[in-house]
Amino acid sequence: MSFPLLRVNNLSVAFSTYGRTSRVLHNVSLDVPARSQVALVGESGSGKTVTMKAIMGLLRQPPARILGGEIYYDGADLLTMPDKERLRLRGTAMSMVFQDPMSSLNPVFTIGDQMGTILKYADKRLGRSRSTKERMARVHQVLDQVRMRDPERISRSYPIELSGGMRQRVLIAMALLSEPQLLIADEPGTALDVTTQAQILKLLKDLVEERGLALLMITHNLGVVRETSNYVYVMNKGIIVEHGETTGIFETPRDPYTQSLINAVPRLTGGMRFGAEVAP
Ligand SMILES: Nc1ncnc2c1ncn2[C@@H]1O[C@H](COP(=O)(O)OP(=O)(O)OP(=O)(O)O)[C@@H](O)[C@H]1O
Ligand SMILES: [Mg+2]
Repeated sequence: MSFPLLRVNNLSVAFSTYGRTSRVLHNVSLDVPARSQVALVGESGSGKTVTMKAIMGLLRQPPARILGGEIYYDGADLLTMPDKERLRLRGTAMSMVFQDPMSSLNPVFTIGDQMGTILKYADKRLGRSRSTKERMARVHQVLDQVRMRDPERISRSYPIELSGGMRQRVLIAMALLSEPQLLIADEPGTALDVTTQAQILKLLKDLVEERGLALLMITHNLGVVRETSNYVYVMNKGIIVEHGETTGIFETPRDPYTQSLINAVPRLTGGMRFGAEVAP
């Protein structure tokens, strides 16, 4: 059997707080083949971020508890592999684009310092070494890839000196530093105005296509799903209720929850055409 790049199989997760255990993921299964663009969509609290955290290995301590399931990356189960191996994958082969640039960037260090440090640690995990000069060259190269003009100036800047859109581009650049094969983006650009968000999503899509990456786009916004994915998983209360080709799901949603998500869009966007809010 050939495995997709990422396979989540029957994953169940619970949180135990104040002696009470509540299950938040119920036998979640999803596949992200190499070079594919997959979306995970659901309302707030449906379990999208918990899924992403489980994949990235960020749910390993109480109150979180993985009750069962497997998460395969390139055929190897992330949940049972040795810590060192798993750490080597995180931030290298698989990388995350964070949602909130201001809380993901350190205000007291320049962009170049922060990116240089990330690269240094990624190199260390991969057993590579580069000089400071080589590292900065790579930082400038990646800033250029996310279409930032004057990468050297950007790299000397502090986060506060950049606009929200530029900061989000920096976060994408950070995720690309170690040449990952899989990008997981959790609601990127939601802190931005719709025009800038549309530009960011377009950039992300162009980058994954150009570089042959796989993208798992996590969002509550069906407009974003339509713009960025070919295949979609719909999650409700920790359960995947429906999945399929994005066009098919939009045309003939079978699950009542998917139908309600779709019906909610025109009301939320003041009657605009579907997906218009993020159209480039
Ligand atoms: N650290 C935690 N402790 C206890 N419960 C948690 C914790 N993190 C998440 N949960 C619960 O897990 C459920 C899923 O949360 P999750 O953050 O995955 O939702 P989401 O789909 O990402 O929502 P949003 O669209 O608002 O980001 C929620 O009911 C939440 O309260
Ligand atoms: Mg979330």
